[in-house]
Amino acid sequence: MRAIEVSEIGGPEVLRAAEVPDPVIGPGQLLVETEAIGVNFIDTYIRTGRYPVARPYIPGSEGSGVVAAVAPDVTEFAVGDRVAWAAAPGSYAQKVAVPAAVAIPVPSGVESSVAASALLQGMTAHYLIESIYRPESGETVLVHAGAGGVGLILTQLLAARGVRVVTTVSTGDKEKLSREAGASEVLRYEDDIPARVRELTDGAGAAAAYDGVGAATFEASLASLRVRGMLALFGGASGPVPPFDLQRLSGGGSLFVTRPTLVHYTRDRAELLWRAGDIMNAIADGTLQIRVGATYPLSQAEQAHRDLEGRKTTGSIVLLP
Ligand SMILES: NC(=O)c1ccc[n+]([C@@H]2O[C@H](COP(=O)([O-])OP(=O)(O)OC[C@H]3O[C@@H](n4cnc5c(N)ncnc54)[C@H](OP(=O)(O)O)[C@@H]3O)[C@@H](O)[C@H]2O)c1
Repeated sequence: MRAIEVSEIGGPEVLRAAEVPDPVIGPGQLLVETEAIGVNFIDTYIRTGRYPVARPYIPGSEGSGVVAAVAPDVTEFAVGDRVAWAAAPGSYAQKVAVPAAVAIPVPSGVESSVAASALLQGMTAHYLIESIYRPESGETVLVHAGAGGVGLILTQLLAARGVRVVTTVSTGDKEKLSREAGASEVLRYEDDIPARVRELTDGAGAAAAYDGVGAATFEASLASLRVRGMLALFGGASGPVPPFDLQRLSGGGSLFVTRPTLVHYTRDRAELLWRAGDIMNAIADGTLQIRVGATYPLSQAEQAHRDLEGRKTTGSIVLLP
């Protein structure tokens, strides 16, 4: 089969198309022929060595496709089922060994590219606003990278709940997308973000900041919070946040900071099905739009990473095998 293989740490150029043996499934696994593959920021962290893995490896963890074979002990899925997943290593490939424990049925009517790029970002948005801080209608929150994959989903889910969403973006086109998703105020990174958030909240500050940008925005996120506000630092698209003096949380208003990751919010099958089901159902009934901002042939994974890291993409991005 064709896949992307990575043999060394480096820039996007280390993502090389290769012919490799088909995966061999073991107990509890499905062999899936991929229809579309989700590209996520974490794929760039792994490629650059920020999250070390053994090499050579096939990148990617997310996708959708049709089940071609099942291990004898699998009862939940059968050949021909359409499934999606967010946690199967080796997903930048025409065939993937997907543990049945992480496979999610795709509702009919949900298109492959959408299914392939909705779960990782969608379940992240879900745990951020259901399990880390659940804003009430009328509360104000800050969402960075408002036109990104997670940003557009977070904004729609929050706005639908009556939450006032203030976002940051880098360009006019991204501002337009963020407003269409439901943002009430769209700021630029160079704005005085804490001052603007305080103006909008009669001096109180935001109930929560959902920050996947990291190094460039962490200080502004912290300074934008109200007393007992929550900073969910869920990524570092601009780089990791440097060490931090916990004492500052007291002076800032008895603040909370957490650095969550999806795996700890999908701890068992029930939790995974709850989050994935809410996201798939919201897509199927039209209350959540997944913007697939760009698609690339699998062989052009290099270009997909360049665009993602170069801030050229909006919404999710997908590779087609
Ligand atoms: N912890 C978790 O469980 C979890 C799960 C999924 C994703 N994440 C994190 O969530 C964040 C968003 O992921 P995503 O896949 O949806 O990506 P994305 O938001 O579509 O892309 C990243 C965006 O970050 C913004 N950005 C700001 N400064 C940047 C810089 N110096 N370099 C590159 N981008 C910069 C850009 O938007 P502007 O041009 O508008 O600034 C860019 O489009 C990432 O940090 C990712 O690691 C975390």
